[in-house]
Amino acid sequence: MNIGIIGCGNISETYFECQKIFNNFKIVACADINKEAASNAASKYNVKSLSVDEILESNEIDLIINLTIPAAHKEIITKSLYNGKHCFSEKPLAMNFKEGMEIQKLATEKSLYVGCAPDTFLGAAGQRARKIIDENKIGKVVLGTFNLMSHGMEDWHPNPDFFFKPGAGPVFDVGVYYITQLVNLIGSVKQINAISGTATNERTITSQPRYGDKIKVETPTTLMGSLEFTNNAKVQFFCSWDVWKNNHSTIELYGLDGSMIVPDPNFFSGDLLISNKDSDWEVISNDRMLLGIPNMRDNDGNLQANYRGIGLSEMIDSISNNRKSRCSLELSLHVLEIMDGIIKSAEENMIYQLSTNPDKPEILTEEDIKNLKL
Ligand SMILES: NC(=O)c1ccc[n+]([C@@H]2O[C@H](COP(=O)([O-])OP(=O)(O)OC[C@H]3O[C@@H](n4cnc5c(N)ncnc54)[C@H](O)[C@@H]3O)[C@@H](O)[C@H]2O)c1
Repeated sequence: MNIGIIGCGNISETYFECQKIFNNFKIVACADINKEAASNAASKYNVKSLSVDEILESNEIDLIINLTIPAAHKEIITKSLYNGKHCFSEKPLAMNFKEGMEIQKLATEKSLYVGCAPDTFLGAAGQRARKIIDENKIGKVVLGTFNLMSHGMEDWHPNPDFFFKPGAGPVFDVGVYYITQLVNLIGSVKQINAISGTATNERTITSQPRYGDKIKVETPTTLMGSLEFTNNAKVQFFCSWDVWKNNHSTIELYGLDGSMIVPDPNFFSGDLLISNKDSDWEVISNDRMLLGIPNMRDNDGNLQANYRGIGLSEMIDSISNNRKSRCSLELSLHVLEIMDGIIKSAEENMIYQLSTNPDKPEILTEEDIKNLKL
């Protein structure tokens, strides 16, 4: 499938590079409201640099990858659909649940696919954890916790303003990985109870090139509460960009027969820990699974597995075979409703009841992955 990228910022490199991993798409053009960003990416990756309108109208392109900022996600997804193109978007699907439902209505009317990141739950750790749970090795999951705490994004991202506006914040920007992983592992959420806080109303950028610029904080930087799943499991969460240091593990799940610690769901691999009743932790390494094999170095020079693009590749395969994709619109709309519900529950001091109730995404086997890899 021929693909056009809209949004040539920080994450675009990952998508340009991932066409070297998967076998069913080719990026042929890119666009950005910032023409210089588009032409730089175009010359680096040897593709056409087009205007946003030109890429949307191009007959050569079947699918748009949307890598714009969250405030532009709905606009670019809907314009792709109106132009007869499928769309795979970076997270979050949209700024709120209402926007997400409008996207779903249009995608259904047009019979086109919309998919959305994150796809990290399709990685080795997420799929191995899912298999262990489905095989009942820790019994029915009844309780859990997830914790993501740091001191925000203004120390590394060149343009960090959007992180502190509605549509981002710790839940929409990072919690989305945890929530998607939990829906993969436990199933849908039925209700939410949350509180929020904002430690400081202004952030000072310490990254380059805007060192010293101030950002007005317009969305809560801490959200805490609980998710109750359709299967009655209860998971307590703490998402914050107001914490310098902490010692929590990322996701812990407690089953009737044992416990599991799931590694950071922002990554494709990492060790799982499981224990039966109160036995010692058993370490399960996932580095030999196809989407766990280390394939690149992070900024500190450590090898890690990064297979971003698997969700897109799997969606293209689903389009060809006329079946539901794993990173489906249904899943991302549910995750969006959970994130919006967390904010609403905190703002309005009420228990938020969900209206969406998707099935768990289907397991992605090693055989499925072999068919998609180059
Ligand atoms: N940076 C990361 O590590 C990372 C990782 C995963 C996901 N994401 C997600 O990817 C998205 C983009 O993040 P980023 O870090 O690349 O942001 P960025 O600010 O570096 O890049 C966004 C680009 O989109 C362009 N843009 C904005 N509005 C547009 C519009 N209406 N039409 C066309 N172009 C438009 C901007 O000019 C900019 O070049 C976000 O939703 C983010 O949550 C980022």
